[in-house]
Amino acid sequence: VRASSAGRVILVGAGPGDPDLLTVRGVRALEAADLVLYDALVDPRVLALAPRAGRFCVGKRAGRESVAESTIIRLLLRFARRGKTVVRLKSGDPFVLGRGGEEVLACGEAGVPVEVIPGVTSAIAGPGAAGIPVTHRGVVSGFLVLSAVPNEHFERVLRTISPEDVTVVVLMALGARASIASFARSLGWPRDLPAAVVVGASTPDAWTWTGTIDTLDQSSIPLRCRDLPGLVVLGRVVGLADAVSRATKKLDESEAAWPRTQRR
Ligand SMILES: C[S@@+](CC[C@H](N)C(=O)[O-])C[C@H]1O[C@@H](n2cnc3c(N)ncnc32)[C@H](O)[C@@H]1O
Repeated sequence: VRASSAGRVILVGAGPGDPDLLTVRGVRALEAADLVLYDALVDPRVLALAPRAGRFCVGKRAGRESVAESTIIRLLLRFARRGKTVVRLKSGDPFVLGRGGEEVLACGEAGVPVEVIPGVTSAIAGPGAAGIPVTHRGVVSGFLVLSAVPNEHFERVLRTISPEDVTVVVLMALGARASIASFARSLGWPRDLPAAVVVGASTPDAWTWTGTIDTLDQSSIPLRCRDLPGLVVLGRVVGLADAVSRATKKLDESEAAWPRTQRR
């Protein structure tokens, strides 16, 4: 984080949920912030790292109102021009389905200094937290990250690939589970192709379902998770989830790792 007396905008990726997954550079930016505009998915413990900043939620969760992107950009520019350090705190990585590019370009056009601090994206760490490596030697050597909306775009891309060649990670997918499953089947994809639903990855309420594209529409999300974000994974790597989770759980249980940020 560059020291500057002039105002600036810093886009910070907050990671998928667990505050421990924020980068060191992200922590420094928050400590330096005068103002934080944050998405609804950001953990309050991350916001607590910006004690001297004004903090405003500008994000939305399914169905609820959010602040318009044009208003967010106006606020970023206005406060940076007043000499403030404005942190735009986004879930995951700012450049993965987060409109980070638009905000950076708007700053560039307005001549406002802007920097981007990457974050751990849920597209990789979400499946990973559920024991699903997005690539695995001898199984698959690539992965595709897509949004379930808009539907036509999602379907156009899926028509061009084979699920044996790439793992498909679908964000903003919870409400589209049934249509994802039926579309994959309509493409003639093997009905036993493994599928997973990963909800609230790296949070205390994390929940994972594994099955196949044949049973994906029967995955029923527990009530306690209804407000959490989630994604769908399609591909053979889902078959590794049990073994990988068993292997990593041993370390979690022995607490041999390092002290974690206190749970709420
Ligand atoms: C608007 S997109 C932003 C993605 C974000 N920029 C990233 O890199 O993770 C929000 C979507 O990310 C996914 N997501 C975010 N956090 C998640 C989590 N903890 N567990 C599962 N999915 C998550 C969900 O699919 C959610 O609908």
